[in-house]
Amino acid sequence: MSAIRAYDKKDRERVRQICLKNADCLYAPEETKQYILLMYCDYYIEQEPENCFVAVDDDDNAVGYIICAENYEEYAKTFQRVYLPQADAISLKRFVEARLDLLSHSMFKNIYPAHFHIDIDEEHQREGLGSLLVSTLTVHLKHKGLSGMMLVCGADNQQAINFYKKNGFKTLLTTKVGRAMALDFDAESA
Ligand SMILES: CC(C)(COP(=O)(O)OP(=O)(O)OC[C@H]1O[C@@H](n2cnc3c(N)ncnc32)[C@H](O)[C@@H]1OP(=O)(O)O)[C@@H](O)C(=O)NCCC(=O)NCCS
Repeated sequence: MSAIRAYDKKDRERVRQICLKNADCLYAPEETKQYILLMYCDYYIEQEPENCFVAVDDDDNAVGYIICAENYEEYAKTFQRVYLPQADAISLKRFVEARLDLLSHSMFKNIYPAHFHIDIDEEHQREGLGSLLVSTLTVHLKHKGLSGMMLVCGADNQQAINFYKKNGFKTLLTTKVGRAMALDFDAESA
């Protein structure tokens, strides 16, 4: 039996491991791991832990997560101050990639200020946990007065695209590298 609960500091290492594992980077060079974590994990659990939730197993160990930045402008400000210099320290290529990633989330910031990342450990995928995490975050952000949320996924990540479509997300934009998708909470509850 799995359950969903709020993120706690004790989940940090498991969440970071799942992030690396799903990015196929568990055994990658240290700098690659560092980049993946600073882009797709650390900002959220360090700066907005109240907007993060985990799926846990019977022993209360995290087996999946959804991590969210509630407001793009705030996210971008802190990201540029704290995390972008870390990307720059890795390499110019990583710095440029990080800037492009920021840009991809900024395009829809006025309609969808909140964006998120989600990952479920391979052994627990297709058990409904991802959908439960999406609905938990939806309720949480609705309570805060938000009307939707967005994400950017790989253009060829059919597993994720199927998942988002199944959960009511619509496509905002597709390019060669990525697909921006969004969920309107009103439409979702209609
Ligand atoms: C995408 C992901 C978050 C979905 O979470 P989940 O807990 O597996 O999804 P759920 O069980 O709630 O929903 C299952 C639905 O997701 C889609 N899906 C999940 N795994 C899939 C797969 N391997 N192939 C195709 N579709 C898949 C299907 O629509 C599926 O519905 P179905 O079983 O009726 O066909 C999870 O599989 C995952 O972490 N994948 C790897 C990392 C990733 O792509 N993260 C998102 C990056 S943007």
